Amino acid sequence: MDLSVAQGREYLAIPGPSVIPDAVLQAMHRPAPNIYAGDLVDLTRSLIPDLRRVARTEHHVAIYISNGHGAWEAALSNVIAPGDTLLVPACGRFAHGWAEMANGLGAETQILDFGKSAPWDLNRIADALRADTAHRIKAVLAVHVDTSSSIRNDIPALRRVLDETGHPALLMADCIASLGCDRFEMDLWGVDVMVTGCQKGLMVPPGMSFVFFNPRAASARAAMPRVSRYWDWSPRANPEEFYQFFGGTAPTHHLYGLRAALDLIHAEGIDHVWDRHERLAQAIWAAADAWAQDGPFRLNVADPAYRSHAVTAIDLGAQHGTALRDWVSDNMGLTLGIGLGMAPPGDPAAHGFFRLGHMGHVNGQMILGLLGGLETGMCALGIPHGRGALDAAAAVIAGR
Ligand SMILES: Cc1ncc(COP(=O)(O)O)c(C=O)c1O
Repeated sequence: MDLSVAQGREYLAIPGPSVIPDAVLQAMHRPAPNIYAGDLVDLTRSLIPDLRRVARTEHHVAIYISNGHGAWEAALSNVIAPGDTLLVPACGRFAHGWAEMANGLGAETQILDFGKSAPWDLNRIADALRADTAHRIKAVLAVHVDTSSSIRNDIPALRRVLDETGHPALLMADCIASLGCDRFEMDLWGVDVMVTGCQKGLMVPPGMSFVFFNPRAASARAAMPRVSRYWDWSPRANPEEFYQFFGGTAPTHHLYGLRAALDLIHAEGIDHVWDRHERLAQAIWAAADAWAQDGPFRLNVADPAYRSHAVTAIDLGAQHGTALRDWVSDNMGLTLGIGLGMAPPGDPAAHGFFRLGHMGHVNGQMILGLLGGLETGMCALGIPHGRGALDAAAAVIAGR
């Protein structure tokens, strides 16, 4: 192509940070507010019930000024002491990352690795829990959606396994890639602790994270010999002074941004938000099926029941993946996510993988633009692909 058509509004289609709504940007564009009294203080209190509504919980939430890694550490710090044992089912990079953080805090981790393309095998999890007759496993670390593999795991089924085996371990869920995108029902599903960040389904620039916890988890916290003062969720969830929400200075502008984002979510309705993500994901899968008819295009997760509605990992073959990402970035103003941990570092196969982010503030025309960008890039680079992908995606979006 001799003419780039990249100028115009860029589209960051990576799995976080996600597209920021104009309403969020505008809410953040303001002079520094008073942090002692007034609007900001009231606004912060108003966030708590609306965060609970997104997570479908009536229990506690603590806010941290951190990315998701901070939320991981916060959650662990409140209930895991050095020497405790954790069970970690893994299907992608992020369970390993959370486990490594637990190791750094002195915990033992028992990892069940299910590879990078299949969901948890619940029978193996049940076997591990049954084998733990002394109930040494204090918690199960459960990544709901693994953002590297785009596998969506079945959290209610994991709860049933814990119940059926009579194992008292806490169920701790990582919803960093799923909250506000995929259905998640903290109380109904019996999740004890849930961590998330603000930069994906919650549509706010990176910098805030959240730990939700129920009374069981609060009891586990109360039994801890000590908890790091900064990560302790107790004052944050029940603050007597405004600064206790944050353990220090408030993330002023993020709070305004989050207020605007929660308003968007609740104006749409969280059930509708989930349905929108599902429909748009199905459009991507329909296009993928057409492309896969001829050529190397392959979704990483074969079974749609275990695919995320917010992120899609794709393997296009070592010589094509990075080339396509570069081409659509240079020529279309479209940024796709890099592949993450799907092949060992240095292995050329790693260049086959890339990811589509379709989380948060995304609609039908954006997804068709994203798919059109992929189709254009494959045409430009001569990558073999089946026909009819855009027709198939349009039919899904049209509800046909
Ligand atoms: C599932 C999951 N867990 C944890 C993290 C880590 O979050 P952060 O990059 O904000 O530290 C991410 C980030 O993409 C994630 O997708």
